[in-house]
Amino acid sequence: MAHRIAIIAGDGIGTEVMPEGTRALEAAAKRFDIELEFTTFEFGSCDYYLEHGKMLPDDWFEQLKGFDALFYGAVGWPDKVPDHISLWGSLLQFRRRFDQYINLRPCKLMPGIKSPLAGREPGDIDFYVVRENTEGEYSSVGGKMYEGTEREIVIQETVMSRTGVDRVLKYAFELAQTRPRKKLTSATKSNGISITMPYWDERVIEMAKSYPEIAVDKFHIDILTANFVLHPDWFDVVVGSNLFGDILSDLGPACTGTIGIAPSANINPEGNFPSLFEPVHGSAPDIAGKGIANPIGQIWSGAMMLEHLGYKEAGDAIVTAIEEVLSEGNSQVLTRDVGGQGTTESLGKAIADAVSR
Ligand code: NAI
Ligand code: MG
Repeated sequence: MAHRIAIIAGDGIGTEVMPEGTRALEAAAKRFDIELEFTTFEFGSCDYYLEHGKMLPDDWFEQLKGFDALFYGAVGWPDKVPDHISLWGSLLQFRRRFDQYINLRPCKLMPGIKSPLAGREPGDIDFYVVRENTEGEYSSVGGKMYEGTEREIVIQETVMSRTGVDRVLKYAFELAQTRPRKKLTSATKSNGISITMPYWDERVIEMAKSYPEIAVDKFHIDILTANFVLHPDWFDVVVGSNLFGDILSDLGPACTGTIGIAPSANINPEGNFPSLFEPVHGSAPDIAGKGIANPIGQIWSGAMMLEHLGYKEAGDAIVTAIEEVLSEGNSQVLTRDVGGQGTTESLGKAIADAVSR
């Protein structure tokens, strides 16, 4: 049976990298005999907003909920629509209503990419950041009192539920189990945040009992960020609350070079709702329309989508193709951000060809 994929290219370079994302997916689908059916949507973009006064149609949930996955480009065009409207009106709706409680980002130093960390080679950095995506520090519980007076008070509560903490930990342990190193690092701050973070630590200890083969360690978030920079080779799977995961999931990919290649996934592991796959980067208005955006972030997100749909071999083949093309280092093919003079299309085609080989 065909897997139904909703395509939302969004804004700016989202519309330029998306065709290369689908090109690689089609090549992998052909090689591994997978049936993919793409349906393209215009909503979730600033142009849609300018025409309709909203980022999504009222029935977006009904329209999308039956899809097997959502493949997103990037959203945002600050000159036309304020960022809080474009982001809250689209991506954040999907994350919440589709209960995509895992945010997953691979942090892998690829061949031919220079890490901003001195002396690091491919193989030195290869880990995942797993971020809790639905509760924690990003809650709407709280309020303001005595507004505008000397006594002004603001409160915003962290919310951790056993369900919410356990399900992200379970996902991270399961992921660690699929990896050769079988190692899990927990981000905490139980020395300073004395109620929720000790609770998080307790749940890690409890969950670890079900995964005796996984080596578990933990760091307070402050030294953990330092260790991402000093010792990225220590990590395999790193799990954190919404806030800590947010910070780590930007820092991790940043340690592996250009933002143009980093992928991400927002996952509902049970498959009750579609999961969403997108590059880490935004719509890049500064280079949009020139055909020079690096399509690897989009293509790699597609690889994560195939893996999520149960086709690990096909996903791996796309990642291997990316590595091959980057290793070859053909400057006619590579985009400028990775030292070439090629285009979005030349790099996308080279990767799709490598998938087919
Ligand atoms: P950005 O990621 O769009 O761009 C940051 C810098 O990286 C720019 O100099 C850009 O040229 C470069 N860059 C990004 N992707 C690239 C690629 N594939 N190849 C080569 N260079 C690349 O972030 P920025 O400028 O802060 O945001 C622009 C718009 O994107 C805003 O409206 C923002 O809200 C939105 N945004 C959307 C995201 C999403 O859809 N998930 C994520 C981040 C930002
Ligand atoms: Mg972030």
